[in-house]
Amino acid sequence: MAFPGTGRIWMNGKLVPWADATIHVASHVVHYGSGVFEGARCYGTPRGSACFRLDAHMRRLQQSMKIYRMEYPLDLNGWIQAVLETIRANAMKACYIRPLVYRGYETLGVNPLACPVEAAIILWEWGTYLGQEALEQGVDVKIASWARMAANTLPALAKSTANYANSALIKMEALADGYAEGIALDVHGHVSEGSGQNLFIVRDGALFTPPIANSILGGITRDSVMTLARDFGISVTETSLPREALYLADEVFFVGTAAEVTPVRSIDKIAIGGGRRGPVTERLQRAFFDVINGVTPDRHGWLTYVYAPEPAHAR
Ligand SMILES: Cc1ncc(COP(=O)(O)O)c(C=O)c1O
Repeated sequence: MAFPGTGRIWMNGKLVPWADATIHVASHVVHYGSGVFEGARCYGTPRGSACFRLDAHMRRLQQSMKIYRMEYPLDLNGWIQAVLETIRANAMKACYIRPLVYRGYETLGVNPLACPVEAAIILWEWGTYLGQEALEQGVDVKIASWARMAANTLPALAKSTANYANSALIKMEALADGYAEGIALDVHGHVSEGSGQNLFIVRDGALFTPPIANSILGGITRDSVMTLARDFGISVTETSLPREALYLADEVFFVGTAAEVTPVRSIDKIAIGGGRRGPVTERLQRAFFDVINGVTPDRHGWLTYVYAPEPAHAR
């Protein structure tokens, strides 16, 4: 979906009109992928707009910065407040939230340390990532011919702009071959994740998902779904999975801030389970949507209200 091109972007503490939020083409990040970022969402709920797990997202941003030796004069609360301030300044009700920290304009040697660490917070309205129909019917995916990054090459736990060169290869190949998404294996052939989503398989009523050592991003939706599943008494195991475990699963689903909870109905043209959204996926999907939409009580303290919340009795 094209950008609306309106609203204001937070740039190094100032709110700048969308069209003026530019950087120089000789900025380090443009050449060497020296940026880290987040993707979070703010949802409209009956008690007003609420960001989902904003603290966890901003904490992960700080962790990505730490790995890449980036320092910026904001602490966790400072980042959270900057996001909330930007949403309020744009009077947004529901939006996608993209904080970005990057190496700016100074020199173009590979060494990033000479270049200033700059930051931006960009907001836009973004609906369902893989389409509304996908949430109900599921998506057709393929195993990517591209592997995820090998351990000790590019750190998968950092949400760095550089990692998305790999994601783009996976996504482009999937689209070129007529699929909605790709699932990448790690270099040892274990299931890793989608181009921008983690994944779960369901087998005999239990959930399995690759562990962080299999070159995944430590997803916040993944963590939320594991928590919701355990609340239901569903067993959740983080374990390495061979490719064929996907084909033999009763259900497979993607999770992520963009994809939310999206069923996978086929992989490499092999139907998964009944070839449509399965009951465990549907149950967890509903539980997830009920939390983010403020339909069920926020038992885990996952929602940060942007504006003064409506009193509880107004629910
Ligand atoms: C590569 C990758 N894996 C997993 C995820 C899911 O992470 P989260 O649930 O925190 O959005 C994302 C999305 O940010 C991603 O880009």
